[in-house]
Amino acid sequence: MTREKLRIGLFGYGCVGQGLHDVLNSSSGFKADIVRICVKDRNKKRRIPISNFTFNKNDILNDPSINLVVELINDADEAFKIVSAAMRRGKNVVTANKLMVANHFKELVEMQEKNNVSLLYEASAGASIPIIRNLEEYYDNELLYSLRGILNGTTNYVLTKMYNENMDYPVALKEAQALGIAESDPTLDVEGWDAKYKLCIITGHAYGLFLEPEVVFHYGISNISGFDIRYAKEKGFKIKLVPFVGKTDENTITSFVLPQFISSDKYLYNVDNEYNGVITEAVFADKQFFSGKGAGGHPTGCAVLSDISASSYGYRYEYKKYQQGTVLNYTRDYKLEVYLRYKKESDRKLFGITEVTEYFSSKSYKYVIGIVNLETLYRLKEQLLNMDIFIVKTGRKQ
Ligand code: HSE
Repeated sequence: MTREKLRIGLFGYGCVGQGLHDVLNSSSGFKADIVRICVKDRNKKRRIPISNFTFNKNDILNDPSINLVVELINDADEAFKIVSAAMRRGKNVVTANKLMVANHFKELVEMQEKNNVSLLYEASAGASIPIIRNLEEYYDNELLYSLRGILNGTTNYVLTKMYNENMDYPVALKEAQALGIAESDPTLDVEGWDAKYKLCIITGHAYGLFLEPEVVFHYGISNISGFDIRYAKEKGFKIKLVPFVGKTDENTITSFVLPQFISSDKYLYNVDNEYNGVITEAVFADKQFFSGKGAGGHPTGCAVLSDISASSYGYRYEYKKYQQGTVLNYTRDYKLEVYLRYKKESDRKLFGITEVTEYFSSKSYKYVIGIVNLETLYRLKEQLLNMDIFIVKTGRKQ
């Protein structure tokens, strides 16, 4: 296969941009020219000479010698403008922007087709874990029952620190921010949005459905309390934020993001700190487990480099599962067993919990374990963060 000489226009020189620069500089096998770097802030101190930078995106977009745009900025709306303009001009694009890809997924797939260009985004889900390309190439003809895992490094870091070191939630979150793994708006991490965007991207490649993030239920860890951690510890569980997508019948899937109890015999139990983990369950390959750093400049830079290299060989996602068109429906009519910690009986009643197997009541807290319908959780989504509750999927029964 012939390799195209790459002339790169880079957008963004933050944590991931600099990580990519380091990774590129240390890579002996692969050379690519970063022709120009476009950044927003004129006054920020940069670690490389200012002559490398521009503040005008058109210096890259209108430069015909630049054949690959690498988009690593924070602002998803601006990123979409840059990425679509680049594709319209016939440039291939690599991005790490999960929010942008998830919110414009179908449109971005169509734009690639229309302009005969490639958009690669391995770094957008699971950072250093090569899950998207594996779903495209290795699982292209495999029937996947489900995919679950840990896709947000920040929440996993916070949960690990709370569990192992009894660290308070705000302190752990500050540490995650200091490490550069949290989003600039960390509510995206702790409320489960980030994990949901990644799950939607993965769903496009695992099942060929380009879901609007809006239809997928997500619930994060921002309401967790010491009581919940104590409960988990007493039972020998850890709590992890677990996105799930899986089949409910031959051509229907469901998906959601929920905290989950993880027992020590499970793969995800030892996936700690900013590590991510992905478990696939397939008809023939059976269970497989991938783990790696899910956030941070260098791990994310590695995934970006891999896409840059793939792009130089003309690699494009074929969206094989979408082409096959086997999965056609999405449902939230799905039963889950959950632990619900609550204070007010009136709150508990909203969940319509059935088949109760555990119940506890003290002056300060109560909890109940039983079955809830995903659709009920979805209907309550706007209210959940304002209630003094915490929900954890038990993982015993779907
Ligand atoms: N804030 C994200 C995380 C960064 O914590 O996983 C990587 O996408």
